[in-house]
Amino acid sequence: MRGIILSGGPESVGVDGEHAIASFVFDSELPVLGICYGMQAMAAHFGADVKSADKSEFGPAVVRARGHSALLRDIQDRENDAGHGLLDVWMSHTDRVETLPSGFKCIASSESAPHAGIADETRRYYGLQFHPEVTHTSQGAEILKRFVHDICECSATWQPAGIATAAIERAREQVGSGKVLLALSGGVDSSVVAALLHRAVGEQLTCVFVDTGLLRAGESDQVMNTFAGRFGANVIRVDAAQEFLQALVGISDPELKRKEIGTRFIRIFEREARRLGEVNWLAQGTIYPDVIESAGTRSGKAHVIKSHHNVGGLPADMNLKLLEPLRELFKDEVRSVGRELGLPAEMVDRHPFPGPGLAVRILGEVSSEAADTLRRADHIFIEELRRHDLYQTVSQAFAVFLPVKSVGVTGDGRRYANVISLRAVQTTDFMTARWARLPYDFLDLVACRICNEISEISRVVYDISGKPPATIEWE
Ligand code: XMP
Repeated sequence: MRGIILSGGPESVGVDGEHAIASFVFDSELPVLGICYGMQAMAAHFGADVKSADKSEFGPAVVRARGHSALLRDIQDRENDAGHGLLDVWMSHTDRVETLPSGFKCIASSESAPHAGIADETRRYYGLQFHPEVTHTSQGAEILKRFVHDICECSATWQPAGIATAAIERAREQVGSGKVLLALSGGVDSSVVAALLHRAVGEQLTCVFVDTGLLRAGESDQVMNTFAGRFGANVIRVDAAQEFLQALVGISDPELKRKEIGTRFIRIFEREARRLGEVNWLAQGTIYPDVIESAGTRSGKAHVIKSHHNVGGLPADMNLKLLEPLRELFKDEVRSVGRELGLPAEMVDRHPFPGPGLAVRILGEVSSEAADTLRRADHIFIEELRRHDLYQTVSQAFAVFLPVKSVGVTGDGRRYANVISLRAVQTTDFMTARWARLPYDFLDLVACRICNEISEISRVVYDISGKPPATIEWE
């Protein structure tokens, strides 16, 4: 071990008094970087005053670097008139460090956080109130590299080629001569797992593609053509639309929907596994954000934001062993691995699609009518994004069906019908996101097409919430 990063977290030093840091952290005499709550906990540990501010600060902020700390030296986005280096950062906090802990100096400040960065350079302890780990802090990666490479003196050994080779070898070892069933959704993550496992265990892999009736327009055929056709993989298509829709009748709570869908998926895979005989492993495209946001990390300290169906929704009595070769990777790393494995760009660069599908984009109870309406609206949006060369400028785009009715007026008179919200975001890691500034004329065109072509819709809105405070999906 060369250094320690104390990450942010949902707790509050002021409110919960939960700032006890394990004694080995400071006994180790290793460099320490505390981020947000990690910095507050470290500051409190060394006697600083940490208080809850009246107002939370969420979103972009400008921080002025002070002095020339080893952590921030020569890292800046621009300078102010007085020649001080400025950083564009992402803040997400309510508590703040009011006084400097003994031995520390201030290395960065912002209007609302006078101690936005602190350091005790003799002991190599650093703290940042803002989040260098999110892409909205434009120099965040540079700051983390500085800490890891220069301060902790670690070298960079984590490369896509290395990750892919190691994952293939690990999967081969784990599986041995066993048989693997892969839950193939056709999305980026499970496609990369399919390529990876095909490379690792070849014929021992069977992919099961479940048509839940909650997929995007034309998706089912596209997945079959790509995998069974082009790759020559073993793929079984299960038509389970009725089964899913039945199971969701009367359920409107998002977490219950997710759990129900997760359970259905596993039951179907178990059924297919029994049919195939002698299957030992269930492979899934779980990636690290799914694990974090389902609070599935080893410490169990993260709060549950959503139970991503491939983690939180697993029934306790499942009798297949889980194989999740992407479990420790972020989306951008998964894409690099996919390219490394030779997957075509249109598959690797596809927008992500959640496991529970349109069910988390139809607010409240799901019906086949709502799914049909949503599919048509979503198709128009995506088709126009591609036609206007905008698809690749956003990280994810989709339509959401709102179960509220609004009055509209058409050539034929009054229309009292449902509302569609369009959502498009830009992000790299999907942990934070900015709503996409799509051109007004483009949004106008999409909204007109949706209302003109779909009589079940009377109004279209555009979602302008970032993550945080909103999540990307509406449920
Ligand atoms: P949220 O809504 O949590 O979404 O901000 C972050 C990313 O994760 C996707 N997502 C899911 N993916 N199973 C998945 O495989 C799920 O249950 C799930 N829920 C959200 C979402 O589409 C976005 O890309």
